[in-house]
Amino acid sequence: MDVQIAPSILSADFARLADEVARIAGADWVHVDVMDAHFVPNLTIGLPVVEALAKSTDLPLDCHLMIDDPDRWAPGYAEAGAGSVTFHVEAANAPIRLARALRGLGARAGIALNPATAVDGLDDLLDEVDMVLLMTVEPGFGAQRFLDVVLPKVRRVREAIDRRGGVVWLQVDGGVSLETIERCADAGADVFVAGSAVFGSDDPAAVVESLRNAARAHAHPRVARAVDGGR
Ligand code: DX5
Ligand code: ZN
Repeated sequence: MDVQIAPSILSADFARLADEVARIAGADWVHVDVMDAHFVPNLTIGLPVVEALAKSTDLPLDCHLMIDDPDRWAPGYAEAGAGSVTFHVEAANAPIRLARALRGLGARAGIALNPATAVDGLDDLLDEVDMVLLMTVEPGFGAQRFLDVVLPKVRRVREAIDRRGGVVWLQVDGGVSLETIERCADAGADVFVAGSAVFGSDDPAAVVESLRNAARAHAHPRVARAVDGGR
């Protein structure tokens, strides 16, 4: 698999979402940050907006649910047409059952870990998910400072994925920019979320391509092999 860029619309103009998404046509995914003011201290986008977005763009939606009780709510995002639905391990009661439900609805299933959440036990879940999201800021807000302290965890999860054959994607989210993406790629991430770096720019499409090139140039050997093999 090649590296992938998933701009977060958290930093887009919420009054003009369809237009904003049109400005990142070269991206691989539209990252949608769903927050409920319980799991995180912020309230953003919910199911009706995701349904409308799914109809307004050809890009697949990567829904990142920062919400309590994803067991109850996450399947609705798959039903709404999201290509990928990621829930937080800290919030899920039955992550295996939930991941299977999401896959059963035709979505990719992702599991997210906050910066301070340990990866112990994750190995045993890897066959059940399509992506692991490692938060590189505390979830809740865009434009926070990247937490380098998470990078060793990115490396550990990359190693765990590779031991299993490397089909699970490894996403980093939070503070990813042209300044930090190389460290993330080097540590083994292959899907990169960037909000303020993309939508804070006058030319979001150009930033997406710059991020992609930087990630490719510094891709972890395992990911780089996939990039070369895919060309
Ligand atoms: C944070 C969100 C991120 C955020 C990233 O809680 O999950 O997706 O939008 O924004 P930047 O790239 O500005 O840190
Ligand atoms: Zn996110």
